[in-house]
Amino acid sequence: MSGFSITYDEWKPEEQKLREALCTLGNGYIGTRGAAEENSNNNFNYPGTYVAGGYNRAKTKISGRTIENEDLVNFPNWLCLSFRPEGGKWLNLQDVEILDYKQILEMKQGTLGRIFKIKDDEGRITSISSRRLVSMKDLHLAAIQWHITPQNWSGKLEIRTALDGTVINDNVARYRELEGRHLDPLRTEVINENSMLLVVQTKQSKITMAQAARTQIYYKQKNVKSEKNSNQEKGYIEQIFNFTVEEGKKYVVEKIVAIYTSRDRGITEPGLEAVNDIKRVGRFKEMLSRQKEAFKFLWHRSDIGIIGNKKIQQLARLHIFHSLQTISPNTMSLDVGVPARGLHGEAYRGHIFWDELYIYPFLNLRFPEITRSLLMYRYYRLDEARHAAKQGGYNGAMFPWQSGSNGREESQILHLNPDSQNWIPDNTHLQRHVNSSIAFNIWNYYVASDDKLFLSYFGAEIFLSIALFWASKAKYNSERDRYEIHGVVGPDEYHTSYPDSNEQGLDNNAYTNIMVAWVLQKALDILELIEKSRKRELLRDLAINEEEFSLWQDINKKMYVPFIKDGIINQFEGYEKLGEFPWKDYQEKYEDIQRLDRILEKEGESPNKYKASKQADVLMLFYLFTPDELKGILERLGYEFKEDMIHKNIEYYSERTSHGSTLSRLVFSWIQSKYDKAKSWENFETLIISDFEDIQGGTTAEGIHLGAMAGSLDLIQRNFAGLAVCDDALWINPNVPESIKKISMRINYRKHWIYVSVDHEKIKISFEEGWSNEVNIGVLNEIYKFKIGEVREFSLVPQS
Ligand code: BGC
Repeated sequence: MSGFSITYDEWKPEEQKLREALCTLGNGYIGTRGAAEENSNNNFNYPGTYVAGGYNRAKTKISGRTIENEDLVNFPNWLCLSFRPEGGKWLNLQDVEILDYKQILEMKQGTLGRIFKIKDDEGRITSISSRRLVSMKDLHLAAIQWHITPQNWSGKLEIRTALDGTVINDNVARYRELEGRHLDPLRTEVINENSMLLVVQTKQSKITMAQAARTQIYYKQKNVKSEKNSNQEKGYIEQIFNFTVEEGKKYVVEKIVAIYTSRDRGITEPGLEAVNDIKRVGRFKEMLSRQKEAFKFLWHRSDIGIIGNKKIQQLARLHIFHSLQTISPNTMSLDVGVPARGLHGEAYRGHIFWDELYIYPFLNLRFPEITRSLLMYRYYRLDEARHAAKQGGYNGAMFPWQSGSNGREESQILHLNPDSQNWIPDNTHLQRHVNSSIAFNIWNYYVASDDKLFLSYFGAEIFLSIALFWASKAKYNSERDRYEIHGVVGPDEYHTSYPDSNEQGLDNNAYTNIMVAWVLQKALDILELIEKSRKRELLRDLAINEEEFSLWQDINKKMYVPFIKDGIINQFEGYEKLGEFPWKDYQEKYEDIQRLDRILEKEGESPNKYKASKQADVLMLFYLFTPDELKGILERLGYEFKEDMIHKNIEYYSERTSHGSTLSRLVFSWIQSKYDKAKSWENFETLIISDFEDIQGGTTAEGIHLGAMAGSLDLIQRNFAGLAVCDDALWINPNVPESIKKISMRINYRKHWIYVSVDHEKIKISFEEGWSNEVNIGVLNEIYKFKIGEVREFSLVPQS
């Protein structure tokens, strides 16, 4: 790795699928895995192309039941490009001698390159240097350029370029028994001797996608004369160019592709738009220069400079890069949320979970406009959430744990344990806490952006609808004189019911209950904050009356929080009675016990029986709230809060967590930073390499973990640089780790662009651009007023 690039300099087929995910190119609209152009789906190659919001539902009969899943569709493969020398085989790196191989992800400009030299069984050596881009500037365009040189031979060469709509969803082995055929072929057409069109449609959601490709061959800037042929089958079209090449001469092949779907704005019909685009667009070089421009702007806004630790610097850039491949300014024109696994693979079917909670803090301070558009994804699905609440017997809106096209619950009903090959009922949909995370995101977007219009109109409506749901879900227990929440699952997905109980869900998950208390209090605050006329409208439209207010106030004071002892919060009521898990025995027995749930299920056991968690649950509270905020919430509920509670809870739960989710390390690293710097750093290092080194043994090939990626960036800004976005000010209290010298970044706080750099001795704040009003910046316990053009430095060394 170098600062802005990743280079793999060996052909390692067994690693290829991981590299593909890490070399995915996207633009917030489409994402295409870094697969080889010349191959279709095989053991070492999976050319997936996904469109943000491009879902389809399909039914499968499994274990005697018919289940329906909604997948992020693998759309036609536009990459297909291959060559063969006369009488030879079409290129396949598995069939030839590889003399040289390099694969380079150039993050600074958003391109993927492959440089290789091969020798076929007739001794012909050919070198290829390829570059590919998915245009950030022109969201419908993508392109490939090949430089191909016959090193020791002359003769005829054939180039085959194709658009392949015969693909299925096949990236995730454990989904293979489920229906993965989502596309119907609609049309193939040769537009002219260089251009072709493919149109397909998803079977159930009826999304039409058109891909048009223009392929041209040049020698020294001039078109090369060739014999041209084309073939068409259902859902597949190819064009073949046959021409004479001379030893040592470099030929250029350019394939430019336009992709449109029927979900796009400002179009008439996808096929027509795609064909227009490939007629109008210039050559690869022009596209590349526009790509560089677009990336210059993106990096200017989002780069995080880290001096003194090259590895962390590179990985942070990799994480920024992939966040922007999934969600970019292009995303703002779409009706989409943030898929937890990016547009990089098919794990979790492209669904949207609570991971936004970890992703928005990075976006809020750089691209608040994007967060706003992503929050609108929830607004447009309010009616479905209202319907779900009503079906469950609740008020307000109940958002699903896994969301896809229309906001229906998309969690799978059965999931396959790949270790045992058993299909098991999946109760994780009971993670109703996703609702509080949506509310939390709305509030934090508002605090960072000061977007009052959004809060008043859309934000408040979602927020209050969630508050209504929670108030109806909470049940009063007169014996305790407390409100309780029953039948839910907390963030720790290993516990979904009580051992030996047939009922799903658990009672009084502490994280859920405390978040509900926060939501109800904030809902009341928001009503005081927004415009009076809007308040009146909302109260009327959502039927919120005085009685409802008193209920919210009462729950705010009387929500039940279970404790074990000595300030240790009980993960849920009854958790204290579960057995201790024999961690040591299992660590000795198995190489990797991150996915303890699968191991135990295979053994005929269940994690429900043990104090063993997949990920941070109680500890989320210390991740999301400052000690003061948490103190406020708990004291209002009549519980005592002492700061040493944090440490005690970390100790308790770190001994009982397997970190089966990458999000877990993130939370641990953050909360340990104050109490155990070494452990915090260790968790941070594991977090930041988790996708690059695929620490979960195969999951990254199925898509990146965007929550962990963007969350690691938030750790850098919030923990190391010490930025805290608060209501009164943007606070900066750095906590730069020893293994980093200096951190710098540009952030957007309430519409002002601020450049911040911190090291072990000083903080530099430069107010670069923004509006004319002054802004509060808090440094080391004091608030200062800043306005445009001001640059100030603060010493961190105690002055004697
Ligand atoms: C985690 C969830 C997360 C989901 C998607 C699961 O493994 O347990 O917390 O939302 O992955 O990233």
